[in-house]
Amino acid sequence: MANEAADAQAYPMRGVPQPMREQTLDLPQVYISRHPVIAHKMTLLRDKRTAPPAFYRTVRELGALLAYESTADLKLEPVRIETPIEPMTGSELAGGVGIVPILRAGLGLAEGFREVLPDAAVWHLGLRRDERTLEPIEYYNQLARSNNLQVCFSVDPMLATGGSAIDALNILKRYGVPHLRYVALIGAPYGLLKLREAHPDVPIYLAALDERLDDRGFICPGLGDAGDRQFGTL
Ligand code: PRP
Repeated sequence: MANEAADAQAYPMRGVPQPMREQTLDLPQVYISRHPVIAHKMTLLRDKRTAPPAFYRTVRELGALLAYESTADLKLEPVRIETPIEPMTGSELAGGVGIVPILRAGLGLAEGFREVLPDAAVWHLGLRRDERTLEPIEYYNQLARSNNLQVCFSVDPMLATGGSAIDALNILKRYGVPHLRYVALIGAPYGLLKLREAHPDVPIYLAALDERLDDRGFICPGLGDAGDRQFGTL
């Protein structure tokens, strides 16, 4: 009996039915990148020989690329400026942008977002996954209310069971943060479906959709633990 309980804690996904990847490819408002540069950099990340300095740098680069992809439909408003030659009407983003890195693995992605959107506000949210129960635990919250946002990105490299993403968006909605979008590097079909069902109003952007979760809840083939590989705590 004790062994069974220990097994259930160590292997929380054992025996849990999971959707096939093909079943989750066409969910509404789910955008999986087809950009060749993103695919190239994702392979660098997945390679177990990639050491933390290169891993962190590549996560930042992917953050910038995903920021570019996930902002393609943002609204603009006209602004009058003068070039060195003459006056003209240019464009600026209509309303502010918020970035919420889910600590700690979301930090590298958030840095990449900031390279593209340097004026964005960054609100940190500390969620850790209990590796035995897979339940998200909130340990840090530095969120601000703002109603002048055009969009707010919740960023976290891994969408595994979906528990952390669902919880993060629940918290952000409780704070009244409007116009949420969720961005991750790799999703598992199981977590993607859960997130789509829990927050059908939030667009989801992924660099890649993988095959499945293993018994421990790790994404396969995945890239391992994105937090440990960014920060050298292997
Ligand atoms: C990882 C990852 C997500 C979460 C995904 O964080 O960065 O936040 O797990 O798993 P889920 O979809 O099953 O909730 P982790 O708990 O390892 O914390 P870390 O960022 O501090 O490494």
